[in-house]
Amino acid sequence: MADTQFGPKGWTPDCLGDLKGKTYVITGANAGAGYQAARILLSKKASVVMLNRSAQKSTAAVNELKQEFGAEADVSFIRMDLAELATVREAAAAVLNNVPKIDALICNAAIAQVPTQKFTKDGFESQLGTNHYGHFVLCGMLFDRIEESAGRIVVVASLGYKLGIKTIQFDDMNWDKNYSANPAYSQSKLAQMMFAYELQDRVEAANKTVEVFVCHPGSSATSLISTSGGLATRIAFYLMSLSPMVQSAEKGAFPEVMCATEDGLDQRALYGPTGRMEWVGPVGKGTLEPYAYDKAVMVKLWDRSEKETGFKWSF
Ligand SMILES: NC(=O)c1ccc[n+]([C@@H]2O[C@H](COP(=O)([O-])OP(=O)(O)OC[C@H]3O[C@@H](n4cnc5c(N)ncnc54)[C@H](OP(=O)(O)O)[C@@H]3O)[C@@H](O)[C@H]2O)c1
Repeated sequence: MADTQFGPKGWTPDCLGDLKGKTYVITGANAGAGYQAARILLSKKASVVMLNRSAQKSTAAVNELKQEFGAEADVSFIRMDLAELATVREAAAAVLNNVPKIDALICNAAIAQVPTQKFTKDGFESQLGTNHYGHFVLCGMLFDRIEESAGRIVVVASLGYKLGIKTIQFDDMNWDKNYSANPAYSQSKLAQMMFAYELQDRVEAANKTVEVFVCHPGSSATSLISTSGGLATRIAFYLMSLSPMVQSAEKGAFPEVMCATEDGLDQRALYGPTGRMEWVGPVGKGTLEPYAYDKAVMVKLWDRSEKETGFKWSF
């Protein structure tokens, strides 16, 4: 049954008050849902720090946002390539030096539907490495700052978590034996969700206060498929985007902005559009399949992620 917490229209930016004094750090905010999230937050006078892989695209995005909201709009970027852990560490260090308070870290950046097996700089399958391992290290390095700020972490997932093998393929994390674009993307998004739900448990056990929310943008017209997808997927998504089953990138940003700002949300949940197939429609609490928080798998994934990345969380 559709969530009615925010009325028939669901959560919209009209629910936001003045965000002056609040700081949001967003990964992959030069395009798509991340850019739109930055726009919405800036429109309410928040400060936004983008962590993006392209300096050129970031400069263009900052200029565009300042054109829309005025030169005084507090938006900046730090270069970070999630597919190269050394740059994630450098970017996190730069955030710790320059950003005294983080009200929310929004883990939005991703690649999807990569047609052939590729690897990140550190040798991980490209989607798992970028979407999961990169954010795993980033969140770990920024956690204490977020805790001091009484802030939150928002993980942007995908309904794609339901399309793959619905668990983690621990014996072949890089898909050396059976690479296929969709299952590999699905596993990377499921891994991000499992990381978030396991982090909730660890935060509670350590008596810390950071809240961790999981959401997805539904089906939104962004550059996701054109950036990393193969030709057939690009054509299929283009045709689909002409139908009412694909919404605007701006609407796709609502769930992540809601999770970054709204009080009274549930943590063990998945927020996103609640209309047709949960791809479009009013934003609220959607369906969450229990295999996304299978405790044994979450714990194993956490340990494996620490081992693979060489990053050990402090709690
Ligand atoms: N659009 C949908 O229908 C849909 C559906 C389900 C889930 N999602 C999720 O929604 C989130 C936002 O995606 P989107 O649809 O807005 O896609 P998008 O338009 O392609 O935006 C993705 C952003 O991530 C950045 N990025 C990609 N690889 C990166 C890396 N290695 N390091 C740092 N940044 C990187 C991109 O930078 P560049 O501009 O340099 O490429 C871009 O800024 C993702 O987590 C995605 O999985 C989207």
